[in-house]
Amino acid sequence: MFRRNRRRSAFGKKFQVNRIEVWNTPPFFPLDPIVVSNTTVLSTTVSNMMVSNLPNTDLTKNLKICCIGAGYVGGPTMAMIAKQCPDIQVHVVDLNQVRIDRWNSDDLPVYEPGLDAVVRESLGRNLRFSTCVDEAIAESDMIFISVNTPTKSFGVGAGRAANLEFVEKCARQIAAASTGHKIVVEKSTLPVRTAEAVKRILESSTDKASFDVLSNPEFLAEGTAVTDLLNPDRILIGGESSTAVETLAAVYSRWVPRDRILTTNLWSSELSKLTANAFLAQRVSSINAISALCEATGADVDEVARAIGTDSRIGPKFLKSSVGFGGSCFQKDILNLVYICEHFGLSEVAHYWEQVVAMNDHQKQRFSDRIVRTMFNTVSDKKIAILGFAFKKDTNDTRESPAIYVCKNLLDERAKLRIYDPKVSGKQIREELLAAFADPMGNVPEKHQQLIASNVTVVSNAYEAAVHSHAIAVLTEWDEFKTLDRQRLLGSMLRPAFVFDGRGILNASEWRQDGFQIHTIGKA
Ligand code: UDX
Ligand code: UDX
Repeated sequence: MFRRNRRRSAFGKKFQVNRIEVWNTPPFFPLDPIVVSNTTVLSTTVSNMMVSNLPNTDLTKNLKICCIGAGYVGGPTMAMIAKQCPDIQVHVVDLNQVRIDRWNSDDLPVYEPGLDAVVRESLGRNLRFSTCVDEAIAESDMIFISVNTPTKSFGVGAGRAANLEFVEKCARQIAAASTGHKIVVEKSTLPVRTAEAVKRILESSTDKASFDVLSNPEFLAEGTAVTDLLNPDRILIGGESSTAVETLAAVYSRWVPRDRILTTNLWSSELSKLTANAFLAQRVSSINAISALCEATGADVDEVARAIGTDSRIGPKFLKSSVGFGGSCFQKDILNLVYICEHFGLSEVAHYWEQVVAMNDHQKQRFSDRIVRTMFNTVSDKKIAILGFAFKKDTNDTRESPAIYVCKNLLDERAKLRIYDPKVSGKQIREELLAAFADPMGNVPEKHQQLIASNVTVVSNAYEAAVHSHAIAVLTEWDEFKTLDRQRLLGSMLRPAFVFDGRGILNASEWRQDGFQIHTIGKA
């Protein structure tokens, strides 16, 4: 059974949201908007609060932190706090024993350049990974919630709303295991006004403890997590209690300049995270929309990106055309934004953001269609070398990777895939592909299990992938693909030797000169 909380179709199912029904339907949805004005007044005073310019070591003296969720965000973020604050005890807990064992080993569950050294520096000193959730909560002053918040795959809001059941469970567990006063920090990306619901659960579940709830979204990008954490553009803290906000700010100010620590009200902080990801994804979809036009007209998408990116109002980042964006955040957060807008009756706004995801789906489909069309309208029984399966370089994360969808489309066409990724295991690749063929109940039809068993081979380098292949498709921009030995590849491939560069990383004229028929995203 392959049950993934993956969106099946963002647009397949329209639904009417009944506000009361949503609020009463677990997993919960943030509070009814009627109370917004009261709390906004309260929290505005905090957003305007003056935070002192010096690190307030008194506030962090003997501080004990725990984090529930040792994933791609919780693990690296806590390792960085432990590294930068050797006097603060940091305990990261997770339900997943295997994951915890790997954090305690030399084979970390998350691949990130530089992360090994950061973890090693503090592990056993002031950094601990375990499955002792209650113990960690009980002994800590500050508890981060960093569990995953996937798109709901069932019930109201399926395919769009965030599934907050893990967050709700965490809140109940925190309440049950707490005494005294605790600061609870939302690190997970959550819909606007979730903090209010978390606070209500905490306060109504116990009279042995009191709580402040803060929102502190994480902006690190995978692949650059360590540098992003060391040198963030900003730290965002939303909250009502100035002491709680100041305490968390004092932790970060050990290494982040104070003027980069922004404080806002809770709801602005929650919404800013969704908005930041929506804006970033929108840029990628915008340049990808233009890439289709470039292919039709003979313009070059990289030249267009350079030309517009030098306008200081637009800027050069996030203008790299690709086979589509992936990762655990962009699609999930936009769909969540869409759902929230619909909930508030803002259907035009919802529709506007929905198009960012629609364009991304189109880009993935367009890429696999181009492969089939170029290879004489059939790839049946043809070997295609797939270079890269992670959703971007320098990570082993495959969540929502465009490679999954391109491979699925090619398998639907009965292609034989030889897949290589430097950091993703064969097991993970097969699981992702099986999940892509699963029905809404998570069952994979027998014929598709057989298709994957017979048509997918996972190999250990790019040259092995290319042996006897009709084509190479580059789906992740790993640096090692830029310097491949072209003669060696060509020598083992069938003719014409097709190359489809879905990341625009290969020097097309050199490949063409060497005898490849190369097709690049955004170039005719
Ligand atoms: C994070 C955020 O939390 C998410 O909201 C954001 O959108 C993306 O980044 P991430 O760290 O990438 O999620 O998720 P994942 O790598 O899946 O880690 C979550 C961890 O929480 C898992 O190890 C899971 O075992 C753990 N977990 C989940 C618990 O310990 N308890 C639970 O109840 C649920
Ligand atoms: C994103 C946000 O950048 C980060 O701030 C947030 O905390 C989590 O979500 P992440 O998903 O890890 O981070 O990586 P990111 O670098 O944003 O890339 C997302 C996807 O967009 C990748 O598939 C990437 O290949 C693609 N992308 C990015 C492009 O196709 N073109 C670009 O120009 C940039």
